[in-house]
Amino acid sequence: MRTPQVFSDKDTLRAIAERIVATHHAHIRMSLPAITEMVRATYDADSDQANVRELRDTWCSLSSFIEYHEEQEERFVFNLIKSLEDSDTLHVFHCKSIQRPLGVMEKEHQQIRNEMGKIRELTGDYTPTASIPIILCKTLTALADFECHLRWHFYDEEAVLFPRAIAREALLASRSEQEKGIPA
Ligand SMILES: [Fe+2]
Ligand SMILES: [Fe+2]
Repeated sequence: MRTPQVFSDKDTLRAIAERIVATHHAHIRMSLPAITEMVRATYDADSDQANVRELRDTWCSLSSFIEYHEEQEERFVFNLIKSLEDSDTLHVFHCKSIQRPLGVMEKEHQQIRNEMGKIRELTGDYTPTASIPIILCKTLTALADFECHLRWHFYDEEAVLFPRAIAREALLASRSEQEKGIPA
């Protein structure tokens, strides 16, 4: 099990975003194909069980959604966040405020948590029984580890990166109002 990342107050938005990509997103890129292969092999070994089929279908659609989510962050959202530091003046985004895309990311996190919850139910909290095939046993361990890592990943985004980006945007907005002579 990994330990949580610790960010200091001095870490820039760019540094935090880059570390999230280098650790959490790299872990996802490495884990998704390996787990998909295990889930498929589990289905091939025991395709008569309805819950094994449901596990395969739920995981395959969830893993595509997670890939899509991470890509949106890297190509769009994290670049907007970094741009808040690139200048001391408020940049007006086409989405108006950074809060909008961050709200979408948080909703997607919740969707992902809900789907992981379904997987947890289907696997009885990833609990192996004495008679299950070894491949299912390995799959349960991999899924449990994946969910644990995902919790830290979302924590680092929702509790560290996103609030600091919102605070930076608010600071730039208040400076810009002061410059225009508008009382706060
Ligand atoms: Fe992410
Ligand atoms: Fe995310």
